[in-house]
Amino acid sequence: MKIHLTVNGRAVECEADAETRLLDLLRDSLGLTGTKEGCGEGECGACTVLLDGRPVNSCLIPAPAADGKSVLTIEGIGEGGKLHPIQAAFVETGGVQCGFCTPGFIMSAYALLRDNPSPTDEEIRSAIEGNLCRCTGYERIVDAIRLAAERLKERDAT
Ligand code: FES
Ligand code: FES
Repeated sequence: MKIHLTVNGRAVECEADAETRLLDLLRDSLGLTGTKEGCGEGECGACTVLLDGRPVNSCLIPAPAADGKSVLTIEGIGEGGKLHPIQAAFVETGGVQCGFCTPGFIMSAYALLRDNPSPTDEEIRSAIEGNLCRCTGYERIVDAIRLAAERLKERDAT
């Protein structure tokens, strides 16, 4: 079937059958390989994207279920070719090591900071509880999201 959706602000039309996952559509049909496949079972969060603004595991979403909806991926958050402040904060704090989990964490953080610009550490940890990282021990990721919150507030105040 043909499905129509908006991906990173662009209207797209794709062929997808009931077996196609949103993750496959993004990576294979649209070439948006920033979204990663880890477990493929909804456990690791590497495939997190925003679907109509809500973080979802794209490995669990049949592509036809995204028909008519809006998807935001890691490729869609940069600003004019520059890193988004959340991406920059991950680099700065060492929240990126191998980087495989990073797009998923950043999409979860993006949704958190959009809705809650001043999260507590507990709220940060809760927002990323569906994302797994084998490298960082999580502390630097929490540091990154806290730093990003400060930077976004500074940016929005100017
Ligand atoms: S690949 Fe989707 S949750 Fe792990
Ligand atoms: S940085 Fe390697 S899995 Fe998170």
